[in-house]
Amino acid sequence: MGTEHTPVLLDEVLTYLNPQPNQNFIDATFGGGGHTAAILKATAPKGQLFTFDIDPEASGSAARLGSRVHHFSKNFSLLYETLRDGYPNVPIQGVLFDLGYSSLQLVDPTLGLSFQTSQPLDMRLSRTGNMSAAVIVNSWSEKDIADVIFKFGEERLSRRIASAIVRARKEAAITTTDRLVDIVRRAVGGRRGRIHPATKTFQALRIAVNGELDNVLAGVAAAKEVVTCGGRIAVITFHSLEDRVVKQLFREAQEYCHCEPDALQCHCAKDRPWTVLTKKPVVPSRQEILQNPRARSAKLRVIEKIYDAKTKESA
Ligand SMILES: C[S@@+](CC[C@H](N)C(=O)[O-])C[C@H]1O[C@@H](n2cnc3c(N)ncnc32)[C@H](O)[C@@H]1O
Repeated sequence: MGTEHTPVLLDEVLTYLNPQPNQNFIDATFGGGGHTAAILKATAPKGQLFTFDIDPEASGSAARLGSRVHHFSKNFSLLYETLRDGYPNVPIQGVLFDLGYSSLQLVDPTLGLSFQTSQPLDMRLSRTGNMSAAVIVNSWSEKDIADVIFKFGEERLSRRIASAIVRARKEAAITTTDRLVDIVRRAVGGRRGRIHPATKTFQALRIAVNGELDNVLAGVAAAKEVVTCGGRIAVITFHSLEDRVVKQLFREAQEYCHCEPDALQCHCAKDRPWTVLTKKPVVPSRQEILQNPRARSAKLRVIEKIYDAKTKESA
């Protein structure tokens, strides 16, 4: 098993979150702790870091980072309640979401995220719960499987793949990644350009198993509540579906009107609560992609809270 995860867009994240001594931040997706470690250094000596990861395996390395790190093995959709209940008066200067999965998880032989080796068809980042990729492919209807592969994988051959899955499972339950790869490969017919034929199907199953898009909606909404005026939310995505969700969320945050519901005319335009700092998403340099090919599809978007409707404070 690999022992490292290289943080993606690290310099860019530090530029946008701009951590300063004694400020507090949330790393909503701790992973191997690469971003956390850099923010921790910049916020010394007293800044606190609240870190989340749905995968309980991530907690071990968080514990090694010292007493300024408070780690929660929880879904980041719970970050608002977690901070409100445990640390109500700690001002949070920024929140980072580095979505998806880490290199450590990709090579974990129990998770089934990789189609390069034979692994159990699981994909639950939390390692708990009843839903797994095997449950979807072995018990869902052909139509539901096709819909999931189309919606979350943007796979135009979703129906053909779903039909092949349903035919194959009649022979024997599909329990390993290599068997699923084989079924998909035969259904779509070999390689398609530079991407592996099973990439989109695997992405779709992973998103469905982990409720990834719903988590992004809930996580960003929670982050908007906890960030202080002048604070920022940075999100790194790894595929176009997720990036579109974040782009739309940020656009809506910027356009949000907080006038009274019965106001005849909007009069809060000058107090827009959020501003988007990245008109276009920030992408990795060629050099970063050469050093860390996994970074190639990363996109960073950042918003800043410029008006707090609760405290009536402007940044
Ligand atoms: C790309 S990795 C983060 C890597 C990290 N920034 C680093 O530098 O090491 C994404 C992490 O987010 C976690 N994750 C995914 N969805 C989550 C969720 N809804 N709540 C909390 N953690 C989540 C995954 O378990 C994984 O460890």
